[in-house]
Amino acid sequence: MAIVYNEKDKTITLQTAHSTYQMKIALYGVLQHTYYGGKVSQGDMSGLWQAYDRGFSGNPNDADNHRAFSLDTLPQEYPSAGVGDFRIPGASLVNGDGSRAGDWRYKSHEIRSGKYSLPGLPALYAGEEEADTLEIVLEDKAGKSRLTLTYGVFPEIDVITRTAALTNLADAPMEVGKLASLCLDMPFGDWELIHFHGRHAMERMPARTALAPGAFSVGSRRGTSSHQHNPFVILAAPGADEDAGDCLGAAFVYSGGFLAETEVDQNGLTRLVMGIQPEGFCWKLGPGETFQAPEAVLAYSDKGLTALSHRFHKAFRQHLVRGKWKEGPRPVLINNWEATYFDFTTDKLVDIAKAAAPLGVDLLVMDDGWFRNRNDDMGGLGDWEVNEEKLPGGLKALAERINAQGMQLGIWFEPEMVSERSALFASHPDWVLQIPGRAPTRSRYQLVLDLSQPAVCDYLYERIARVLRDAPIPYVKWDMNRSLSDVWSAALPADRQGETPHRYVLGLYGLLERLTRDFPDVLFEGCSGGGGRFDAGMLYYTPQIWCSDNTDAIDRLTIQYGTSFGYPISAVGAHVSAVPNHQTGRVTPLTTRGIVAMCGSFGYELDLSRATAEEREHMARQIQNYKTLQPLIYEGAYYRLTDPTSDPVAACAFVGTRRECCLIMAVYTKTFANGAIPHIRLKGLDSDKTYRVRLLAEAATEWGREWRGLAEAGGDLLMSAGLSLPRPRGDYGSLCLLLEEQD
Ligand code: DGJ
Repeated sequence: MAIVYNEKDKTITLQTAHSTYQMKIALYGVLQHTYYGGKVSQGDMSGLWQAYDRGFSGNPNDADNHRAFSLDTLPQEYPSAGVGDFRIPGASLVNGDGSRAGDWRYKSHEIRSGKYSLPGLPALYAGEEEADTLEIVLEDKAGKSRLTLTYGVFPEIDVITRTAALTNLADAPMEVGKLASLCLDMPFGDWELIHFHGRHAMERMPARTALAPGAFSVGSRRGTSSHQHNPFVILAAPGADEDAGDCLGAAFVYSGGFLAETEVDQNGLTRLVMGIQPEGFCWKLGPGETFQAPEAVLAYSDKGLTALSHRFHKAFRQHLVRGKWKEGPRPVLINNWEATYFDFTTDKLVDIAKAAAPLGVDLLVMDDGWFRNRNDDMGGLGDWEVNEEKLPGGLKALAERINAQGMQLGIWFEPEMVSERSALFASHPDWVLQIPGRAPTRSRYQLVLDLSQPAVCDYLYERIARVLRDAPIPYVKWDMNRSLSDVWSAALPADRQGETPHRYVLGLYGLLERLTRDFPDVLFEGCSGGGGRFDAGMLYYTPQIWCSDNTDAIDRLTIQYGTSFGYPISAVGAHVSAVPNHQTGRVTPLTTRGIVAMCGSFGYELDLSRATAEEREHMARQIQNYKTLQPLIYEGAYYRLTDPTSDPVAACAFVGTRRECCLIMAVYTKTFANGAIPHIRLKGLDSDKTYRVRLLAEAATEWGREWRGLAEAGGDLLMSAGLSLPRPRGDYGSLCLLLEEQD
């Protein structure tokens, strides 16, 4: 059992292979958090924190004159609310009697094998042998509420999941304004927060902020996890880098608005709180009812950020992504969006397929614009009736012609949206999010369907299922192109409107669950104007997510670098697009575009029917290469070898599971004359193995082909001394090297 209760010390210890997490049933039944860090075999760690009498930090009434015992200073497993802890609360609530307090004390706990699940919500899953569950019940007698904290422990992959649920034990209704999924008090140490911020077409750029006394938070009020901030954060010790130092990551398995808060308190303790965005949220709990918070995933590494990322990659790849597409290979796609935008017909798509099929492309994704009233982005969303002027004979005829080329057809939907110019809006104006008497904000000319209404989700299920039943379409791109505003549901009474944002997300998850269950062979790719909803919640339903609407290879280096801290490479939708790039106007070599897209789930997004014979030949080699390397890219351990936000060379590597091989990708972002020879040090190899070093000539720009490095080297040499790369020449050169274990 990875969870141990020590009756004498009243400690509960969660053990994974390389980390330890501990809490203690402290005085008066208060649950104290004692430790989360590198592996410790045994002991009561409560002594790591010392209780002192601190002025203005009061004492619970049952502590009599014990002035050193204060909820305002104690590291708590889940902070109380309104009874003397003045730091960021985990919960905010209004009890039936109007009081706003919760003082939850230990009542019971249960340890069982296997991992709990959360009905209606995405969560990590595991076989009976792979994880254990701890459930702790706390109760606030006066406020009449029960707080249940649940933990899942994955010993082998060093991951712990957490969630909280609040039950109303009173006769009168109560209101929950906030219920964090995760509260973590780090009793000692200075911490920096690494978070991933951005904007449309430039998502998940890393930023590192030293936490100082006071509070710092990141989050989204957009109803989705958002381009602006990602629900994945890292607390890192100052100086912690890729290879060394303490760091802990927290990922929220949720796709709606979120808040990740930190506070360094008066005595230097750091609190991390993560959960549903409380602003605009209020859940009414009738007597006996329970509100279940979504799951958060935690991992700790005392060996730096790379090891931390590996833990999240494994957890998400092996215990979050589900179904047929969990393991590769996945199809190489060609998407027509940047090739044609709205301007296409069956013939045009077939032309693209004809050019793509001989190169080895598996599937053509027909993007936005295939349905009626959709020749620009001003109309059509919601009806999902095929436009037979563009596609004579409909989807079936199109699929047949694509299939005749030896390829499959994929399709784009934006299910959550409606255009005012649509039959759906005309017949169901009450199905959109809008506040009575207030004309709703438009964004990209569209309104948001109210997915909190079951009837709306049933309608969407029928529309999508009909399309998937009527034609062989084994791929769906699930797009979502605006933030939620004017949040008000016609289906809820006034005093329950605060439930709408979360009910929307539950509706979305319910719809995705039905579709993925009923169409198990379909590969669903998530998307929200690129990576506006790139989160662990979506990954439960969509094994890959379009990483960004920015397809510029050089910008993508930063976007994919930031994404890699929390998310596996197989989750990253990445395409080779045309030059000059449509978002930046930059011109990069085809080889470099290929290398960058290979660091993800690979595809193309250009008009292949216009490509030259030379380009097609090049792409055929790219695809062959990718198909050979895909297992290594998906399952190998991913190493960030440089930081593309500051280094002139962006380099990463994928190391085989038995350390038998290593694929190195390097892209030059700056060219300079007569400079130092760029140099990288490899990681994760076997020091005792000798590797043959091979330049993948088909994946190197002309400049990269000048590489004259070692043809053979020991793993120890490659990790201690490294490899030198050619001096840069021309714009944005790149090369790929493959190391293979010598027999
Ligand atoms: C935004 C997506 O990210 C794009 O790839 C494309 O599908 C457009 N929407 C279509 O409207």
